[in-house]
Parts: sequence; C-alpha cells; structure tokens
Amino acid sequence: MADDPQSEIRNPKLEHVTVLLHEAVDLLAPRPRGVYLDGTMGGGGHAEEILKRSAPDGIVIGLDQDADAVARSRERLAPYGKRIVIRQANFRDIAEVLSGLGIDALTASCWTWACRGSISGTPSAVSASRRRGLWTCG
Ligand SMILES: C[S@@+](CC[C@H](N)C(=O)[O-])C[C@H]1O[C@@H](n2cnc3c(N)ncnc32)[C@H](O)[C@@H]1O
Repeated sequence: MADDPQSEIRNPKLEHVTVLLHEAVDLLAPRPRGVYLDGTMGGGGHAEEILKRSAPDGIVIGLDQDADAVARSRERLAPYGKRIVIRQANFRDIAEVLSGLGIDALTASCWTWACRGSISGTPSAVSASRRRGLWTCG
C-alpha cells in the first residue's frame, strides 16, 4: 500500500475518483420522490448520479466527516439546490442527523470507504443497501 499511487494519505491532492459508480447506483434504483443517503459522500460522485436519476424531486442527504470533502461536494452539487442536503458528520451519528432534518425513513443508502489493498485486493469497498438488500464489493 505504501507505493499505491491511489493512496489519498500519500497523495492528499489526488483528485478523488468515484468507484463502481453505475454498479452501486443501479442497485439503489433511484426514482423521483425518493429520499437517499450517501453516508460517505467524499467528492459527491455517487450523490450526483443519484440526483440525476431521481430527478426532478428525489432528495439526497450526504454525510462526510471530512471538511474538505464536504466543501468539494457543496460546490459540485450546488446546481441541485434543495435536493441535496450536506452535513459534516460521522456516520455513527446518522440517527441524530436524520432526526434533525425531520427524516424518519430512507428509500436507499450508499456507503463507500477506502480500505487496505493488502487486505481486500482492491483499493475500495462499496456497499449499497436498498430496503433489506445489501451488496458489498471489496
Ligand atoms: C471513498 S470516499 C467516498 C466516495 C464517494 N461516495 C463518491 O461518490 O465518490 C470515502 C469517504 O468516507 C469518508 N468517511 C470515512 N469514514 C467516515 C465516517 N465514519 N463518517 C463519515 N464519513 C466517513 C471519508 O472522509 C471519505 O471522504
């Protein structure tokens, strides 16, 4: 991993690349009027694809604990106006965040995080859950 050019730790200025964009979002099956969560929003690639596919009125809640990721996503997703709600938060606090927004149910959610290549063989893992379904690739 130390020489992995995709390591954001070693390459903090590396442009973030969204992995398995279509595969993950296909599983969420976004639709108008849906309420979606990206619990690890990063640069906002998954969130933007969900917004596109759930037009004209689907809503995405995006969380990330990292201030830079939140700033990047806010800028990128600004054209979607009130359909995107972004909070800087750890996903362990998801219940509190959703409650603060008055949301008591999600249509589907997406979670993506980097993991050690030496463990998984790939640089990232993605899970997308829709109702009771769960899909993981790592
Ligand atoms: C691989 S990126 C997400 C990619 C993103 N979904 C996209 O569309 O490209 C992983 C993100 O998870 C965030 N993250 C990791 N652990 C977190 C946690 N416990 N709570 C919130 N965000 C977290 C990181 O800050 C990072 O921005």
